[in-house]
Amino acid sequence: MEGEGAYNKYAKLPAGGGALALPLLEKAVDAVRFEAGNQPIVIADYGSSQGKNSLVPMKTALKGMRRRLGADRPLSVIHIDQPSNDFNTLFEVLDADPDRYTLDDPNVFPAAIGRSFYEGVLPPGSVHLGWCSYAAVWLRRIPALIPDHFVSFLSSSAQVRAEFDREAESDWRAFLTMRARELRPGGRLVVVLPARADDGSTGFEKIMNEANAVLEEMVSDGDVTAAERARMVVPTYPRRTRDLLAPFERVAHFEGLTIEELVTLELPDAAWSDYEQDGNSDALATKHALFFRSIFMPSLAASLDGVRSGAAGALAQFADRLQSRLTRRLTRVPTAMHSFVQTILLARG
Ligand SMILES: C[S@@+](CC[C@H](N)C(=O)[O-])C[C@H]1O[C@@H](n2cnc3c(N)ncnc32)[C@H](O)[C@@H]1O
Repeated sequence: MEGEGAYNKYAKLPAGGGALALPLLEKAVDAVRFEAGNQPIVIADYGSSQGKNSLVPMKTALKGMRRRLGADRPLSVIHIDQPSNDFNTLFEVLDADPDRYTLDDPNVFPAAIGRSFYEGVLPPGSVHLGWCSYAAVWLRRIPALIPDHFVSFLSSSAQVRAEFDREAESDWRAFLTMRARELRPGGRLVVVLPARADDGSTGFEKIMNEANAVLEEMVSDGDVTAAERARMVVPTYPRRTRDLLAPFERVAHFEGLTIEELVTLELPDAAWSDYEQDGNSDALATKHALFFRSIFMPSLAASLDGVRSGAAGALAQFADRLQSRLTRRLTRVPTAMHSFVQTILLARG
């Protein structure tokens, strides 16, 4: 994600997707089995990024726990992300955001861990409640270069798509296996994911294809070399419902986890609603381009020679040029970016 708080500012869409899962999160909190005593309760936020979008779900979870447990039980909230995450912004949010969840509750203790969630990040049997929103869509590694695009799901190469399908299947199993180990018996995990519909659509086709065309332009104009472009891959993989269910196909329990609910919902594009009110196509295109920049730009920039060698300004220059070209293209035909969200509630037996 783009650093220096940019993700917090511009990634409104995942916040909207996470909001759709709050009823499921409330159900999860009601269902968690708590042990007697005064041992701390552990909530894990897997893939927190810079933290702003975690505040509402964490508040929701904490409120439900307080209702069940009273004011005295210590509650521990652990935010997990990659070591390269912008943890400075996360800690600022936890310390000073006006909506921080610690504001009215001195008995809540936030912490953070910089480690991939494809590994074990917390001790076995220690987590009561897990939340993972818009994060398990990121694969653990890039299985192949993509000759005609930067995302596999829009590539015309069947071989490339098959390599990513295999990686995504193995990563989903690995993610579930790790979480199953960390959850306590009776614990719950809520996973929120941008979804792929059965017909293969995600709602992001237009912006991804326009960004792909921008990268071609940038190669033609000498902003990016052909070799740098060839290495550009964004390892994000929206899954179909059947992909998520695959580990549970032959066995009711996968590594001790069961699916209690899986619902796919439509996520209307909030920027499009603004556009319908104000008719401002520049504002719509800018919001969409900033969304793209704050989430996907860093993966593209990682293949630039200048960024790899740490050249001053290389990242910002690429990001600014990409954004302005993308905005220009998106302004031509204002288009809604309605998408789909899977919300999943899993229980640890
Ligand atoms: C799109 S953001 C979602 C942030 C936040 N949960 C939200 O709903 O807005 C995805 C986050 O997942 C993190 N992520 C991706 N792969 C990860 C991994 N293997 N381990 C830990 N975090 C990961 C990324 O670094 C990023 O911060």
